[in-house]
This record gives sequence, C-alpha cells and structure tokens, in this order.
Amino acid sequence: MNALDFLDKNNIPQHVSIIMDGNGRWAKKRGNPRIFGHKNGVKAVRETVEAAGETGVKYLTLYAFSTENWNRPKAEVDALMSLLVNSIENETENLIKNKVRLQTIGCRESLPDNVNRKLDAIIANTSNGTGLTLILALSYSSKFEIIEAVKKIANKVAAGNLSEEQIDEKLISDYLQTASFPDPDLMIRTSGEYRLSNFLLWQSAYSELYFTPVLWPDFRKHDFFEAILDYQKRERRFGKTGDQIETK
Ligand code: FPP
Repeated sequence: MNALDFLDKNNIPQHVSIIMDGNGRWAKKRGNPRIFGHKNGVKAVRETVEAAGETGVKYLTLYAFSTENWNRPKAEVDALMSLLVNSIENETENLIKNKVRLQTIGCRESLPDNVNRKLDAIIANTSNGTGLTLILALSYSSKFEIIEAVKKIANKVAAGNLSEEQIDEKLISDYLQTASFPDPDLMIRTSGEYRLSNFLLWQSAYSELYFTPVLWPDFRKHDFFEAILDYQKRERRFGKTGDQIETK
C-alpha cells in the first residue's frame, strides 16, 4: 500500500499549484552548478504530472519561471530556456498519450521566439486532451497580472462600457490569465521556504498551503500523495465557523 491507497477519492483537490523550489541548493549540496539541479527537477515534474493524473486532479499549475527569475545570471536563464524547450520536445508524445492538455500563464512575449514556437505547437497538439490540464507559469508575476487586469477594467469604465457597480470578485477573476481555470484548492511549496513569491496571489485567497522541506529535484509521487493526504485532513471553512461546515 502506498499513500495513494489512503486518499479519499471523493475529496481530491480539483486544482493544485506548486512552487518548485530548491533546485540550486540541491545541486550545490552535490558540488554541481545550479543548472544540474534544474535538469534533475525535470524528473520531479514528470513524476508530479503522472501523480496528479493518477489521483484525479484536474488542473496542475507549475511555477516554472517568474518575472524575477530574469535577474538571474544570463547563463542560468539561457540554460533554463533550453531545458524548457528540450523538455517540451521530449515530453510531447507522453503528454498526448496521457491526454494532458498544456496551457500557459505569464508574460509569453518576454520568452525567446524558439520557446514560444515550441509552446504554441505543444498547446495546439494537446488541445484535445481530456485529462489533466497542465498549466506552466512562465515569466509569471501575479502582481503584474493584477495590474494588467486593473488597467483593462479601468479602460472599460473610462469608455463607458462598464460601470463601477459591476466590478466584483467574479469580474476581476475573469480579467486574469487564469480566467478559464478554477482557483487552486491546494498550493505546495518545496524546499522549506514559507513564501508565495508573487504566485497566484488573488487566486490563492482560500487555497490550503502545504510546505515541505523536500528539495524539488527529490520530489516524487509519494510526496505529492502526502500533500493531498494532508489537504484531506484540513477543514476548509472559507470564513465560516467549524460548526457551520459540519451542519452543512
Ligand atoms: C527554483 O529553484 C526552480 C526554478 C526557478 C526553475 C524550475 C524549473 C524546472 C524544475 C525545470 C524545467 C521545468 C519544466 C516545467 C519542464 P531555485 O533555483 O530557486 O533553487 P534554490 O532556491 O535552491 O536556489
């Protein structure tokens, strides 16, 4: 029996988001350059995508590259971009076979052309996937996403196409890049850091947070199942009292 057998199949989070952290430290511990950690992180990505599929999670968002990551040394950024392109190429067949649909969020226009071309191709090739929706956050900043949404809404109001009274949570959600996905039920961060790092700030208002000391390249299926098991022990109250939830 493994952790998967202990999961309550009726209480699987619909959407899990992950801050994949600790690649650099994992490599450093082994006396290797940081990119060695990123390369080994790809195996953890593959295992996590499979684990999400096995549990019945419908949406998995992976924080692969933040806008702040552009400030890393050029060699590391270039290596990460190559890794992304190679991983996309190597995994396409597997994703299609497993009915995974790939989507992205983030500032795609800042990515190199070759990365965008590969992304467009895989998004098109997996568009009929009926299983897991895998969302890669690439050059993503939650604050930037919110600013862009606010600008669009402000323009509509200024043009007289929207009234102030129509601005509510639903409307703001509809203007975010995640408009067609449900909010994450569970957010996981690896490597023992306790931060959200500008990731899905609006969308995670009621997400359950799970932090593990495991460094991302070591993250395996059983770690994902453990996180879901922990999630299933939580009482999601959405601001109500525990009694209100019990008598629901
Ligand atoms: C954070 O670790 C990790 C990243 C910035 C990159 C994540 C990328 C991958 C796992 C590889 C490719 C991804 C896909 C989707 C194929 P860090 O470098 O901040 O680690 P540190 O905190 O120990 O320095």
